[in-house]
Amino acid sequence: MNKSTERVDTDALVIFGITGDLAKKMTFRALYRLELRGKLDCPIIGVGRNQDWHHETMKKRAEESIRGSVDDFDRETFQRLADRMRFVNGNFDDDSLYQRLAGELTDCHQPLFYLEVPPPLFSGVIHGLARAGLTANARVILEKPFGHDSKSARALQTDLTQVLKESQILRIDHYLGKEPVMDITYLRFANALLEPVWNRNYVSYVQMTMSENFGVEDRGRFYEGVGAIRDVVQNHMLQVLALLAMEPPNANQHDSIRAKKLELFEAIRSADPERCIRGQYIGYRDIPDVADDSQVETYAALELAIDNWRWSGVPFYLRTGKNLPVKHTEVRVVFNRPPHTGVGMKSHKPPRNQMVVRIDPVPGARMGFVAKAAGVEDFEEADLDVLFEKEPGAEPEPYERLLDDAIHGRYDLFTKFSMVEETWRIVEPLLDNPPPVEPYEIGSWGPEAANRLVKGVCEWDSPWRPTDDARKHMLLGG
Ligand code: BG6
Repeated sequence: MNKSTERVDTDALVIFGITGDLAKKMTFRALYRLELRGKLDCPIIGVGRNQDWHHETMKKRAEESIRGSVDDFDRETFQRLADRMRFVNGNFDDDSLYQRLAGELTDCHQPLFYLEVPPPLFSGVIHGLARAGLTANARVILEKPFGHDSKSARALQTDLTQVLKESQILRIDHYLGKEPVMDITYLRFANALLEPVWNRNYVSYVQMTMSENFGVEDRGRFYEGVGAIRDVVQNHMLQVLALLAMEPPNANQHDSIRAKKLELFEAIRSADPERCIRGQYIGYRDIPDVADDSQVETYAALELAIDNWRWSGVPFYLRTGKNLPVKHTEVRVVFNRPPHTGVGMKSHKPPRNQMVVRIDPVPGARMGFVAKAAGVEDFEEADLDVLFEKEPGAEPEPYERLLDDAIHGRYDLFTKFSMVEETWRIVEPLLDNPPPVEPYEIGSWGPEAANRLVKGVCEWDSPWRPTDDARKHMLLGG
C-alpha cells in the first residue's frame, strides 16, 4: 500500500460485519442515498464470516434491503452502487483474511474501515489489519458502545492506540448525525436573542425526554448486559445535553465544538445514585435471554448538575425508557417566571416561558410565550412553533451524514476518547451503586418515584406532540 498521507478522502470503504443486522437496516440504505447524491466514488468492500456469501450475495442483500426501505428505488443508481461492491469472506481472527484484504487494497492510499461488529471483536480486527500493514493511513469507524465503564473504555483505548493514533478513530453516536440535534447549535448560536437568557439567571430547569413506545423485543441478550443508562444516557442523551449547554464555539479554534462539549462534560458533576430512579417494565423478565430476577433498568430518570458559571444551581432532568406511551425525544429549557406581572389575575401566576426542541418525531422548535386570554383578564399560553424540515426526507439521514463525513475526513460529529472517558465518569456512580429497579406498567410514564425526583422544582412536562398537520407535512413532503 502506498504510504502517502496527503489524500484526505477515503479511497476504499471496507465494512466488517456486512452480513449483519445494522448493514441490512441502515448501511445499505445510507450508501444508496449517498450514491443518489453523487457522493460516493470509492470501492465498497464488505467483509463477513459467512462462507455462503460472495460478491453477488452482497449485492442481492443490498438490493433487498434498499428496496425494502426506500419508496422510489432507482435501478441505475443501485447499479452504480452495486458495481462498486465486492465481498471478502473470512474469520476475523484469521491472518489470511487480512492478507486477502490487503490484496484488494493494493491501489488504495487511505482506506476507511467500518467495524459493524460486536465490541469484543474490535481489538482482534484492528490488530489483524495492523499486522497486514493496513492501518498506517487508515481511518476506523467504531460503533457504540466504547467500553462498558471507564476502566474497560481505557483498556480498549490503550489496546487500540498501540496501532492507531486517536485521530484515526471515529466513534459513532448516531444522535450526532441527526439534523435536529445539529439544529440545537444553530438555534443557540445563530440567534442573538437567546444567548443572553441561556443561563442560570433566566433558566429555571431543563428537561430531556427520550421515550420509546416499544420494548426490548428480541434484543434481550444485548440489553441484559447494558440497560438504559449504558444504552442511551451515557451517549445519546449526554451528547445532546452537551450541545444544549456548552459554551459558544470559537470560530478561530480548530475543532471548537468538540472542545466546548468536552469542557461541558468536565463540568457535569458525577451523577448521584440518590438522584436517580431506575425502572423496569413489567414483562421484561419474560423476554428470551433475560434473567428471571433481572435488575437491569429499561427506564432511568436522573438529575444532573453542571458546576460552571453558566449553569450553577440549574437542575437538568433526564428521563428515558422503553415501553413508555410514545416514541418521542425532546429537550426543554424552562425559564423563570416574571418576578411581578402587574397584569392578569392577581390570584394566577403566568406559565413559564419555555423553549422546546423536538428531535423526534417531526423535528422542530417551540417557543412558549404567555398572552392574554380572549375576553378575560387572565393569562394564556401562546406558542410559536417552527418545523425544521422544509422538504421532509430530503436531508441526509444520520448514518448517511456520518459515513459521508468519515469518508471525507470530517471529524466534528464523532466522539473523542476524552469525551467517552468523561461521560463514563458522569454515569459511573449509577453503575457502581445502582438504585433498586422499580416496576412500571407498559404504556405508563415509568415508575411513580420519577415524580418525586422533580418534586419541589417542577413536574415532568407532557411532551410537545406534533399536530396532525405537522405529521401530514412530514408524510407529504411539504
Ligand atoms: C440505540 C439504542 O443506540 O438508540 C437503542 O441501542 C435505541 O436501544 C436507539 O432504541 C434509539 O435511536 P433512535 O434514533 O431511534 O432514537
